[in-house]
Amino acid sequence: MQEYSSWGFAEGDEIVPGRHATRLLGGGRRYEAYLAWDDALHALVVAKIVRPALLQSEPARLALSGEAHALRSLNHPTIVRMFDAVVDGERPHLVLEYLDGPRLSTLTRRYRVIVEQLLPLALELCSALHYMHGRGFVHLDVKPRNIVMSGRPRLIDLSVAATTDAVSSFTRPVGTDAYMAPEQCDPERFSDIGPASDVWGLGVTLYEAVSRSLPFPPATRATATGAARYPQLVADPAPLGKEVPVELGEAILACLERRPEDRPSALDLAATIEPWVASLPAPRLGLFRPGGRTRRHESSLSRPSPGSHGEPLILASVRGGTREGGGAP
Ligand SMILES: Nc1ncnc2c1ncn2[C@@H]1O[C@H](COP(=O)(O)OP(=O)(O)O)[C@@H](O)[C@H]1O
Ligand SMILES: [Mg+2]
Repeated sequence: MQEYSSWGFAEGDEIVPGRHATRLLGGGRRYEAYLAWDDALHALVVAKIVRPALLQSEPARLALSGEAHALRSLNHPTIVRMFDAVVDGERPHLVLEYLDGPRLSTLTRRYRVIVEQLLPLALELCSALHYMHGRGFVHLDVKPRNIVMSGRPRLIDLSVAATTDAVSSFTRPVGTDAYMAPEQCDPERFSDIGPASDVWGLGVTLYEAVSRSLPFPPATRATATGAARYPQLVADPAPLGKEVPVELGEAILACLERRPEDRPSALDLAATIEPWVASLPAPRLGLFRPGGRTRRHESSLSRPSPGSHGEPLILASVRGGTREGGGAP
């Protein structure tokens, strides 16, 4: 794995006055995310900070400002909230609410998400994307690593998010290879990145969650280019297994139509899924708590049903990768 520069903050180190690192949570090429204590908020937060080697990098700073702008403009229960943004100075960082829970990618590495869990998850993500698109933003990096299962699913990482106006001038690929819509892989040729690109990312995410495989297995050679690097430019998605209900499979594959105009909108997809969620017999993913503890959540999407006692669903009912229990749709 590639080594990136690190601030190397130890517990208690000051990030900026009044904000102290607690521990490293993660990070990618440009940023590190630290759990931190904020004196003014008197709360644990996440400080998402530009890596030290990139302090002079204009794109890294611009992306942080872009993420700050997007998060300032967006306020939705499924999208991570921002408390502060320090975009200038020696330690440019965002202060985000701390979401305590595993990423969807961590769960799908070990378990196949059962239909009863997938549908509410999909609905919440549709809701977030519909809202975002209505506010004139596209996320462009919807994938299991950017979804934190913190009571309810939460969408994080708006570092490549952009306004629907700005995307028309994109010329270079943007996003994460395996989750990118064809138009994200080759914006110069297709020039139609937009809300439908996020629907594609959601489609790949749901496909992976329900099958633990990718619809377009990515190139193994890091140097590959064109269709060798982005098979989604030319290939059809691999068929879903028989364990996935036909209608659900069709809904997921509709998100992976090559032409953006052939994909459903986030709202269309929500409308397809809603009746299935309404008929679910089981409790929802929101009842999952790390460590086996459970907590009840009230939500318009929750349908407590006879016999649902809020068990830790992922651990209890997905073990072994086989689907248990009856299933809508
Ligand atoms: N608000 C948050 N709460 C909890 N963990 C977070 C939060 N934001 C980021 N993280 C952790 O830090 C990692 C990197 O953050 P992310 O915003 O995805 O940045 P990057 O652009 O580097 O991928 C995430 O995968 C997650 O593990
Ligand atoms: Mg990320």
